Amino acid sequence: MRIVHDIATLRKARNQGTLAFVPTMGSLHEGHLALVRMARERADRVAVSIYVNRLQFSPGEDFERYPRSLERDCDKLEREHVDLVFAPQERELYPEPQSYIVDPPPIAGELEGRFRPRFFHGVATVVLKLFNCVQPSLAVFGKKDYQQLVVVRGMVRQFDLPIEIVAGETVREPDGLAMSSRNAYLTSAERAEAPSLYRALKHARNRVVAGEREFGALGAEAMRSLVTSGWNPDYVEVRERRALAAPGPADRDLVVLGAARLGNTRLIDNVEA
Ligand code: PAJ
Repeated sequence: MRIVHDIATLRKARNQGTLAFVPTMGSLHEGHLALVRMARERADRVAVSIYVNRLQFSPGEDFERYPRSLERDCDKLEREHVDLVFAPQERELYPEPQSYIVDPPPIAGELEGRFRPRFFHGVATVVLKLFNCVQPSLAVFGKKDYQQLVVVRGMVRQFDLPIEIVAGETVREPDGLAMSSRNAYLTSAERAEAPSLYRALKHARNRVVAGEREFGALGAEAMRSLVTSGWNPDYVEVRERRALAAPGPADRDLVVLGAARLGNTRLIDNVEA
């Protein structure tokens, strides 16, 4: 496995054959590694990037305290037979202030975007840059960040990027909590409570599958149950899966998405319905 830190060496190291890419912010867990395994099955070579992208954090968010563990991450990737790790310094990826920014469509201002302004501008911009550095034929993204997946798919489609986007299922702890680098922030009491976000979303999802069409009321009920358990929910909403528009009565492929704060930690999750 080669670990490279600059774009010129990265491009030389690409070599021939198909290349599958998994972008990450590091602090790798089984969710990330499941995406790496999907990449492994689909291409001759696998590249993983590890980069905590300042551009997608708002002032006051957790950019500074976001967990960083490059050495441990590289050990894990070595064991997964990853060929190439791209771990740039900030000055390599952003040698000058990034004044050209991908301006995603209005969906990027809803759900996560309502609570994290310009988050998807930052995500889309760095993903486009990483795609241009790594030049993969395929990239794998997790459904854990469902809206991110939808935004990236839209960008690839509308900018005609020659990259196939593959979606990986959310990997969960045995009690249902979606794996996340941010779970490390939870106190032990919060960790015990954390699976109830998934439970609330699953409960709403079961109601949708049973034919419930009062989506607004369902979301409001899920948020109330979270408040009762000590959470500060940002949103729980039912959307159609493809573009995350508000669903019409005939829409069948739906997803329940939610975000909520438990103490100082903000968790997101979703369940397809
Ligand atoms: P990060 O949060 O590190 O996630 C990297 C990839 O792993 C994303 O595609 C995410 O959806 C996926 N992932 C995270 N937890 C998962 C889980 N429990 N199961 C399955 N997949 C999971 O998402 C980002 O980084 C950044 O926004 C990035 C795309 C790298 C741009 O900076």
